[in-house]
Amino acid sequence: MKLVEKLIQNRILSKEEFVELLSNTSAEDREILRKEAVRLREKYYGHDVYIRGLIEFTNYCKNNCYYCGIRRDNHHLERYRLTKDEILSCCEGGYRLGYRTFVLQGGEDPWFNDDRMEDIVRSIRAAYPECAITLSIGERSRESYQRLKEAGADRYLLRHETANEAHYRKLHPEEMSLANRKACLYTLKELGYQVGAGFMVGAPGQTFECLAEDLIFLQELQPEMIGIGPFLPHHETPFANEEKGSYDLTIFLLSVLRVMFPNVLLPATTALGTIKATGREQGMLAGCNVVMPNLSPVANRKQYELYDNKICTGDEAAECRGCMENRMASVGYHLVVDRGDFNKSIKQS
Ligand code: SAM
Ligand code: FES
Repeated sequence: MKLVEKLIQNRILSKEEFVELLSNTSAEDREILRKEAVRLREKYYGHDVYIRGLIEFTNYCKNNCYYCGIRRDNHHLERYRLTKDEILSCCEGGYRLGYRTFVLQGGEDPWFNDDRMEDIVRSIRAAYPECAITLSIGERSRESYQRLKEAGADRYLLRHETANEAHYRKLHPEEMSLANRKACLYTLKELGYQVGAGFMVGAPGQTFECLAEDLIFLQELQPEMIGIGPFLPHHETPFANEEKGSYDLTIFLLSVLRVMFPNVLLPATTALGTIKATGREQGMLAGCNVVMPNLSPVANRKQYELYDNKICTGDEAAECRGCMENRMASVGYHLVVDRGDFNKSIKQS
């Protein structure tokens, strides 16, 4: 049996088989997989696209990941923090535009300790009881995750970045560890969060073996959300001169992930829209069902540049919403006003 057929049938392959699939699949077989990915996506989610309003509320970060534009050692960056009121006014604008999920993302900024984060989450929860709150604020203690969950957070995005120990060391300084990152993900699951993991495609030093290990790790973790996008260099990082990731491989991996996880929440990321103008539309045609337009104040958008040439840094939230609507319509999908939770059952309509 061909590997593509085997994946469609079993939803998992061995590490060696994944390596073979990623390195040596014909255009014809890729198309078979893509079509199956779209079929599964439509079985669970129809033509709906969930929107998440992304609020990039701090670009301070205590970490020094080699790939990231807001890393600690980037001194050519004006740092900012949004106040609670500014965050709430992003939510207010987003709510009016139909967003029912707010994603609070930031660097690992110790100023946002548990007391401050809890206060922010509680305030959003009180103002928008029917909305989902997603956090993406890195590695914290179990107690911290628990307090934020009790305050009203529903979901947590924490990409594992790479499941391979040696590759993790190439991407991060000594003070960070893959073991802790993975432990955080399992803790978040235990606490009842809907959890998102993921990785960059084409991060420096990544091999097909690394990617195969990523897929197998995801299979073990069983996350509700998976975020992947191409690695893109940032000029003020140690990886400034590294090659960007492959668009085609990202698209192929999105289809692989949809086939492995038929009902997972799978965003077409901003990085995919940056590497190719129609990347997010093509993402839908590869099995994606989520987009995350920006709700951050336009004044701060440029300062949250994780990689060079990030798109949408000059657009008001309302423009992004309209633009995204048109982009999705161009490939036969539509944005929905919905929390967009993980769907365990098949769509009826
Ligand atoms: N601090 C939080 C964390 O570590 O999870 C959230 C913010 S972090 C900037 C969000 C994600 O951006 C990372 O998980 C990483 O995969 C992605 N990212 C960072 N630098 C990137 C780059 N140069 N190209 C593509 N994606 C990048
Ligand atoms: Fe922001 Fe297109 S999604 S301008």
